[in-house]
Amino acid sequence: MNKTLIKDAQIITMDEKGLVLTGDVLIEGDRIVQVAERIEAIADRTINAKGKTLLPGFIQTHIHLCQTLFRGRADDLELLDWLKKRIWPLEAAHDEESVYYSAMLGIGELIRSGTTTILDMETVHHTEAAFRAIEESGIRAFSGKVMMDYGGDVPARLNESTEQSLSESVDLLEKWHGRANGRIQYTFCPRFVVSCTEELLTGVRDLSKRYNVKVHTHASENKDEIALVERERGMRNVLYLDHIGLTDPNLILAHCVWLNEEEKRVIRERGVKVTHCPGSNLKLASGIAEVPDLLRHHISVGIGSDGSPCNNTLDMFSEMRLTAMIQKSLHGPTSMDAKTVLRMATMGGAEVLGMEQEIGSIEAGKKADLILLELNEFHAFPSFDADPYSRVVYSAGYSDVDTVLIDGKLVMHNKAMMTVDKSIVL
Ligand code: GUN
Ligand code: FE
Repeated sequence: MNKTLIKDAQIITMDEKGLVLTGDVLIEGDRIVQVAERIEAIADRTINAKGKTLLPGFIQTHIHLCQTLFRGRADDLELLDWLKKRIWPLEAAHDEESVYYSAMLGIGELIRSGTTTILDMETVHHTEAAFRAIEESGIRAFSGKVMMDYGGDVPARLNESTEQSLSESVDLLEKWHGRANGRIQYTFCPRFVVSCTEELLTGVRDLSKRYNVKVHTHASENKDEIALVERERGMRNVLYLDHIGLTDPNLILAHCVWLNEEEKRVIRERGVKVTHCPGSNLKLASGIAEVPDLLRHHISVGIGSDGSPCNNTLDMFSEMRLTAMIQKSLHGPTSMDAKTVLRMATMGGAEVLGMEQEIGSIEAGKKADLILLELNEFHAFPSFDADPYSRVVYSAGYSDVDTVLIDGKLVMHNKAMMTVDKSIVL
């Protein structure tokens, strides 16, 4: 089996003990087989990482690859107006080629900035094109077509019947789930309660249980959205999803800015997962999620940059910094420490995806999804004695990412990106 040896890195393992060491990592095929201060092994490839920092790849648990081409289109609108006036018409205008390039552009940016796994939501049509981009690029992705069979102000092209939405999703699942050595995982993506009939959500519940796959949706992002759900369904978002029977450990809720205590209790008791999207929540003026409180409730919380129009970058470094600084500004300097934030970006994301045994930390037996940062370029001197978590969260940026491995494969090295067949693309 192909062996890669990474030598002399500062390794921030993100394991349960918080181990940080200077040493080596041996990879065989797609897995890490050893982490130690010194490994003597004959490898097919040796990467000299002296002076560099090795981290588990970032896991972003809410992305819309199909929206990368719409970057900047948030103007000063709030969520519901923004969807009606900008996002839905733009998604309706997508064709196969534009979905492919939107996905490739997004994935390039994600890998370039150290993200190795994403939870993605596509649009109604041409999801196959996004899966092709995922397969070719080498990124690890949970993804699926968006499902939306209800609601006004939606362009006719995006309006699908309940039956069509469910059957197209199952066709895609049967074709793509588990492909590329398990790197691709199909996910049901009912857009949000506002866009879905009860029949569709019930169908998703049954299919998710039958196939044991994740369900990815938006919930409680914006006050008008919550009011609309209450008006039409007689309940708040999370309680309505609970009433349908969708609240189980496979359910992942993006945003959760405005939860009441009962909703938090339901999320905790049912093992539902949450994704925090600080940049998007600020730009769309949705509000600020109570992340420290969710973590105190032992709820798994990941981080995502959402689509590029409601954020403008897909960069996890910027999302981590926002996550920390927003809470500090509200609740004081110790309310969100750097280690907690880096954990959300790695192991927290793995927990959200039910992948905590596979990814999220640097440990023997786990998938080799790794990023190497060269942090010294813009620093006065190598400061390995500084708190390693603070150093990554506050002083690193996407341009410090030097090398990225996913599933043991080099997808970026010395800042050059490549597809899985090794042709240089950037
Ligand atoms: N709610 C429903 N659809 C969307 C979307 O595309 N982006 C965001 N941020 N929220 C949504
Ligand atoms: Fe979103």
